[in-house]
Amino acid sequence: MNSCIVGLQWGDEGKGKVIDILAEKSDIVVRYNGGANAGHTVVIAGDKFALHLLPSGSVRPNIFCVITNAVVIDADCILQEIDALAQKGITLKNRFLISENAHVVLDYHKKEDQLREDSLGKNKIGTTIRGIGPCYADKAGRSHAIRMADFRNLEQLKDKLQAIVEYKNKVFTALYNAEPVNADEIFEKCKFYADKLLPFVTDTTEFLHKSIAAGKSILFEGAQGSLLDLDHGTFPYVTSSNSSALGMSVGSGVPAKMVDKFIGIAKAYTTRVGAGPFPTEQENEIGQYIRDKGHEYGTTTGRPRRCGWFDAVAVSYTVTIGAIDAIALMHLDTLAGLKEIKLCRAYKIDGKETTFFPANIDRLSKATPIYETVPGWDKDITEVNDFYDLPANAQNFICLIEEMVKIPVTIIGVGPKRTQTIFR
Ligand code: GDP
Ligand code: IMO
Ligand code: MG
Repeated sequence: MNSCIVGLQWGDEGKGKVIDILAEKSDIVVRYNGGANAGHTVVIAGDKFALHLLPSGSVRPNIFCVITNAVVIDADCILQEIDALAQKGITLKNRFLISENAHVVLDYHKKEDQLREDSLGKNKIGTTIRGIGPCYADKAGRSHAIRMADFRNLEQLKDKLQAIVEYKNKVFTALYNAEPVNADEIFEKCKFYADKLLPFVTDTTEFLHKSIAAGKSILFEGAQGSLLDLDHGTFPYVTSSNSSALGMSVGSGVPAKMVDKFIGIAKAYTTRVGAGPFPTEQENEIGQYIRDKGHEYGTTTGRPRRCGWFDAVAVSYTVTIGAIDAIALMHLDTLAGLKEIKLCRAYKIDGKETTFFPANIDRLSKATPIYETVPGWDKDITEVNDFYDLPANAQNFICLIEEMVKIPVTIIGVGPKRTQTIFR
């Protein structure tokens, strides 16, 4: 059985927690998109791990971890994460692979990300400044790309870096009036990365197909959320990879046909970090209540997350484009204490009602949510482990979501720990 986990909103839905739980019954966990912009939290017996690049299965000692072609590799970040795990006695030796075809994020990508954002003023995207956009742009542009396989030939890499850095420095100095970067320093770092990471570098497509043929069970770990998908999200306020379920096959080299189940992760409300339209956003005491109670601050950047009501129009869209089979609904506990809870069931755009999410932001910006309002509950539910022990209003809320998005909610999160999970 192979499964894929994807975020159904704008990221931070609680993917890390669900991956960690489902990893127990898997042999291999695969990261297939994005880079160190992701921040996946796993909480185990009081220990909190915030993983940016390593698959969330890495915290379990027996799970094989793979990073495939479409992930952009920040080597410093991976090495820090490997060290952090080692300090807790967890080793990745003999159970970790990185694709030779994955592209590498270097210092000049992060610098370009920062300079570009600074230059955009009020039009900034609000990126994580992890160099994601510039690295994917170099991948698409081809001539300035560095891949993990380039670490195998350092002579050639040195020449390549000289030419790339010369070009980048012209842009940094002439366009942005910024300091140039030093090609030799970047090359020295690459030598270090090559030494540390080459033992893990291989053809992960071959590895995954051989593993599937041998009957291994694979869990694919999406990063970001479907609404941040470069082609199907709220462009340009998106990330630079295919973060919807559609990105799983292109990112990993394993066709979606070989995946038995796509599980979508959503919060019982909606959050977004960075700029862009957000129809159900609550810039008021409700949004603040959710932010405080749900600790809604970015795992990667620490930025306060924008908070709002559950948007069934948005989630139905990401369920549809991803052919999602079931939902894991996280953070139900965070809604406790609210007198009333709203769910957006349709939008009104230019006087017309629609239930199909317009990913085009000119139309999305004009959307007024049409809400269904349901009574809330006061009871703390963080220790509940059976659906039928939830307050009736919480049960009804879940059933209403199922009715709106037309697929079942099979996992419910009632707290950050592994044990704070209800299975239906
Ligand atoms: P990811 O990027 O999708 O993996 O999500 P993040 O780790 O960025 O953010 C989710 C946050 O919510 C983390 O701090 C989790 O520990 C926490 N979390 C996950 N599920 C639940 C839940 O059901 N209830 C509560 N209160 N916290 C949760
Ligand atoms: P996980 O995997 C939430 C957002 C950024 C910004 C936009 C572009 O933890 O759910 P980028 O640095 O990718 O160029 O930024 O995308 N973003 C995320 N938001 N969760 C994430 O990952 C995100 N990764 C990127 O905030 O709005
Ligand atoms: Mg996150």
